[in-house]
Amino acid sequence: MNRALPPVPPAAGQVYRQQFRVEYEYPVHFTTDVFDPANPCLIAAVCRQGASPRPLMVVVDDGVARAWPGLDGRITAYVAHHQQYLRLLAPPLTVPGGEAVKTDQEAIRDLGRRLLEAGADRHTAVVAVGGGAMLDFVGFVTATVHRGLRLVRLPSTVLAQNDSGVGVKTSVNAFGVKNFLGTFTPPYAVINDLELLETLHERDKRAGMAEAVKVALIRDPAFFTWLEDHRPALAAFEPAAMHTLIRRCAELHMDQIAGGGDPFECGSARPLDYGHWAAHRLESSSDYALRHGEAVAVGMALDTRYAVEIGLLDEAAAGRVMALLAGLGFALWHPHLEPPADGGPWTLLDGLEEFREHLGGELSVILLAAIGSPREVHAVDPAGLVAAARWLRRHYGP
Ligand SMILES: NC(=O)c1ccc[n+]([C@@H]2O[C@H](COP(=O)([O-])OP(=O)(O)OC[C@H]3O[C@@H](n4cnc5c(N)ncnc54)[C@H](O)[C@@H]3O)[C@@H](O)[C@H]2O)c1
Ligand SMILES: [Zn+2]
Repeated sequence: MNRALPPVPPAAGQVYRQQFRVEYEYPVHFTTDVFDPANPCLIAAVCRQGASPRPLMVVVDDGVARAWPGLDGRITAYVAHHQQYLRLLAPPLTVPGGEAVKTDQEAIRDLGRRLLEAGADRHTAVVAVGGGAMLDFVGFVTATVHRGLRLVRLPSTVLAQNDSGVGVKTSVNAFGVKNFLGTFTPPYAVINDLELLETLHERDKRAGMAEAVKVALIRDPAFFTWLEDHRPALAAFEPAAMHTLIRRCAELHMDQIAGGGDPFECGSARPLDYGHWAAHRLESSSDYALRHGEAVAVGMALDTRYAVEIGLLDEAAAGRVMALLAGLGFALWHPHLEPPADGGPWTLLDGLEEFREHLGGELSVILLAAIGSPREVHAVDPAGLVAAARWLRRHYGP
């Protein structure tokens, strides 16, 4: 719905115009082996302002802690080695990784209490080492404790390094709604340690690549061709190809935030959320059995085919999208896409309304007119979606 607002009545009484600007700037480092005492990255990231040594808290995703035994000891040794710059307020903390930590409301209080007990203040840098879910959670807590501590993200998944970790959003799930509580809070610094990804499960290495396909499709057709050319290397998770993918994807996300004109998403547009309306629905309807990136791959396949069904995108371009996603190893069908046989209500469509509600205003969905040419639409034709879902089942279903 896009109705014009009625004329706003003139303000009565005296109006003061309060206005100020706040500029944000944060470094995004790319490095390897960040806790090698010879690596100055963390010091550079943490000691940009104020006096040394900087008070520090470190929080580690338990998936990372399990995959890197001895990490706590290395962190403590790193800080001890650089004691003129850094000072640990407490031994490193471990918190659960994955979606569970975003859904457990008690976890917010737990981490808050630990920060209180350690004496964290607004000058404290909280270094969070983990996946996108854990970083969203720690980001939410650090954005609200004392109204904002300094968050230094060390993303440890492909998705977190190339998308969520370099961005400005924090969140937890609440009342059954994903990302219901959250803030726009830019990090103090980001350090992408590519070595951390070595222990990531193949499933998570692949899932993060969905965001690269997404941003290539809507922002950078040359990057899309690069992804096609390097599909075998990427499907085999070859580090050199993965690193190029992560860097380019992170750059494109950063460009959108800095140059897109709406870093804190005040409007209704969701320029980077290609394939995401169905993805968010599939994530929650599957009780987070799907990774975010896996759901985004299915969502992109659905919206790509939908664009063909409504005559917006040609078959050949859609074929390239499907071939790349399937070739990277993504499933392009999920049973929750199944339209009801008797023409009854299709719960997948609730995802459109949930997507609209998250930002408010009018529905805004990105479709493809060509590879690299996004088109914003404000309505979706259910019959076209049904046709797209059936097409996906025929080609990629059981
Ligand atoms: N804030 C944003 O802008 C934004 C953007 C996109 C996605 N997200 C959120 O990110 C989350 C998904 O993040 P994700 O894809 O990184 O997955 P994840 O954080 O759920 O991590 C997946 C699993 O990998 C483990 N893990 C993490 N790093 C590891 C490592 N190096 N070695 C071994 N195991 C490791 C974790 O413990 C977890 O079990 C979702 O909650 C999604 O909503 C946020
Ligand atoms: Zn995403």
